[in-house]
Amino acid sequence: MNAAATANATAAPAVAPPMDRTACFQRNAQAVASHRCEVVEHRWVNDRYRYLRLWADADLAGSTRPGQFYQLKCPPAAGLQPFLLRPMSVYGVGPEAGTIEFLYNVTGTGTRALASLEAGGHMDIVGPLGNTFGLAPDARRILVVARGVGLATMAPLVQQAARAGVKVGAVMSARAPKDLMRDEFLRGADADVHCVYDSDGSSSVEAMETLVRRLLGEAHHDVVYTCGSHRILMLLQRVLQDHPLTRGEVAMEQRMACGMGVCLSCVRLFDRDGDKQFLRVCREGPVFPIRDVVGEVEFG
Ligand SMILES: Cc1cc2nc3c(=O)[nH]c(=O)nc-3n(C[C@H](O)[C@H](O)[C@H](O)COP(=O)(O)OP(=O)(O)OC[C@H]3O[C@@H](n4cnc5c(N)ncnc54)[C@H](O)[C@@H]3O)c2cc1C
Ligand code: FES
Repeated sequence: MNAAATANATAAPAVAPPMDRTACFQRNAQAVASHRCEVVEHRWVNDRYRYLRLWADADLAGSTRPGQFYQLKCPPAAGLQPFLLRPMSVYGVGPEAGTIEFLYNVTGTGTRALASLEAGGHMDIVGPLGNTFGLAPDARRILVVARGVGLATMAPLVQQAARAGVKVGAVMSARAPKDLMRDEFLRGADADVHCVYDSDGSSSVEAMETLVRRLLGEAHHDVVYTCGSHRILMLLQRVLQDHPLTRGEVAMEQRMACGMGVCLSCVRLFDRDGDKQFLRVCREGPVFPIRDVVGEVEFG
C-alpha cells in the first residue's frame, strides 16, 4: 500500500535546513515474525516500572536494533482482558541470541495484565517492528533527552553509542529524584548526565531550554535524540532551529492497533521541507526527524 498520503492542510513555511533523512529511516532486513517466548525474569524496578526479560528460540539479538519495537500479547488476568497487542520498545537484547528485554510502566489494562506474568510462563511477541535510530559511523557526540518511559526506548541507543566511542550527554527528566531510573537508563555506560525534576522546577520548559541551549552551545553535537514527552519534543524543535548542523530524532509514541502499517490508526502529520504528509508511526517510524514533526492537529 502507499506509505504516505499527502495532506490537504495548508502548507506552513518550510524552514528546516537540508538534512539526511536516511539516517533514521533504516529498516531492518530481517522479517517480522511471531515468537513464542519464555519469561525468564520479571520484576519491579520501582513502584511503577517493571523489567521483563524473555527468551525465544530465535536470533532476536541479531535482528533487533535500537528504536525498534515489538507488539506484546498481554495475557488475560483477573478482570483484565486486553484485546489489542501492546507496542513496547526494545530495552535491551542478549547476551544470548534469544534474549530480549522490555521496561514498562504499569498503567492500564494491557500493562496491568502483563504485570501478572510470572517467570517460567510464556507469551507471544511480534517483531521487530519499525525503523531505527540513526547513528552515523563518524558521529562524535550526541545528546539524549529522556523523560519517563522514553528512557526504555533510548537505553539501547546509549549502549550502542558508548560502544562506538561516541561521547554521550544525557538530560534526564523525572517527577522527583526517586523516579529517575538513572542506572536503568545508563546500564553502565559512561555519560555526562544532567538530572532535572518537576519537584524543584528544574524540568520546566524554560529551565530545560536554557540547559539544552547551553549544552549545544558548549560543544557541537551530531544528533539530539528524544522520546516520551511532547513538550520536550517541541522544545527541541525550537532549539534546533538555531543549530542547523545538528540532526534531531524523536521516537514517537502513538496509539497503535495492528502495529504493522495496515489499520492506519497511528497516522500523524509530518512536514518534510514544506511537503505535508500523513505517515504511519508504526511503519515509517517510530523514529522521525524532530524537524519534520507537526504539533498535535485535528484531522479525519
Ligand atoms: C512504539 C511504541 C513504543 C512503546 N514503548 C513502551 C515502553 O518501552 N514501555 C512502556 O511502558 N510503554 C511503551 N509504549 C506505550 C505502551 O504501548 C502502552 O500503550 C502503554 O504503556 C499503555 O499501557 P496499557 O496498555 O496498560 O494501557 P491501556 O489503557 O490498556 O491501553 C489502551 C489502548 O491505548 C493505547 N495506549 C495507551 N497509552 C498509550 C501510549 N502512551 N502510547 C501509545 N499507546 C497507548 C494502548 O496501546 C491500547 O491500545 C510504547 C508505545 C509505542 C507506540
Ligand atoms: S498501528 Fe496499524 S497502521 Fe500503524
